[in-house]
Amino acid sequence: MYDATNVIPELATPLEARFQRDGVVGALGVTNGALDAIERISQVWLHPGDRVIVEDPCWTTQRTLLQMLGLEAVGVTIDDEGIDPRSLANVLSKRKCAALMITPRAQNPTGATMSIQRRDAIRAVIEDFPDLLVIEDDHFSELSQEPYPSLTYGRNLFAVIRSYSKIFGPDLRLAAVCMDQNTADQVHMRQLLGPGWVSHIIQRLTARMLTDEVTMGEIGKAAEIYKQRRDLLINTLAVAGLKAKGVSGFTVYVPVPQESDTVITLAERGWGVQAGGPYRIDSDPFIRVCVSALNPEDVLKFANDLIIALDPSSRILLR
Ligand SMILES: Cc1ncc(COP(=O)(O)O)c(C=O)c1O
Repeated sequence: MYDATNVIPELATPLEARFQRDGVVGALGVTNGALDAIERISQVWLHPGDRVIVEDPCWTTQRTLLQMLGLEAVGVTIDDEGIDPRSLANVLSKRKCAALMITPRAQNPTGATMSIQRRDAIRAVIEDFPDLLVIEDDHFSELSQEPYPSLTYGRNLFAVIRSYSKIFGPDLRLAAVCMDQNTADQVHMRQLLGPGWVSHIIQRLTARMLTDEVTMGEIGKAAEIYKQRRDLLINTLAVAGLKAKGVSGFTVYVPVPQESDTVITLAERGWGVQAGGPYRIDSDPFIRVCVSALNPEDVLKFANDLIIALDPSSRILLR
């Protein structure tokens, strides 16, 4: 017997409670992860040649997906509080854009989290563009320590995508999506004609974990450890005069003059970091350091190796 229920009630209850708590109101769906949701929603509303506003820099895989769908990524600048409303207004005033895709918390790679003031300023800018599709990728979901700053309230076309890859593991392949009814109907219809639905076994497992106090307690502890690791690396690099940043997430963004040389020297010294190139449109060079597995006792060594990578003649190392 096939049961094509899109979201089983056992999972719908905790998901809806979380979206409601965050002021996100709409129809619920689940997909095989965040990227699957972005692709499905894009295929419903966007057409090759359409322009999509993204953060600059932004998640590389999202950019690759846009490219494969024939969509043009148009970058807007971003600081620690999220995208810059002036940069957004400027882009919207010059060129017709079909969608805005942003990461309100734990932005990859800058670690930005949108402040409430910034959210209000961005909402005011997009108010004049009622048909703009707004897609929010909340990939860090329960690992985020900040309130959720959604732009979606009152929008015609929107989706808030909440991935459970980061908190429970990427093999889960499940993201919750809260979207307008029209988008939800289209996405569900196309899911039915493809995979059918997201496995109810996986949905049940996710529901159990989301409602289990011990599991969620561990997630809270992990969030705290990521914060400590980010802060330790940023503060250590600051002593050496390096302006690294990352107010949320598990990556630290370090501006560098030369990405590839830095990445290669660090690799020779046993460190794997990512060059900013694939993330950037017009923004400045940087490296992205993932701190999730960076032991506090290794931070000093990493910082000194980075200092040498940036200036091989440097004699001023940290102790
Ligand atoms: C910004 C962002 N969104 C989404 C994802 C992945 O989400 P999913 O595994 O649910 O497709 C990642 C993974 O790195 C990410 O960085």
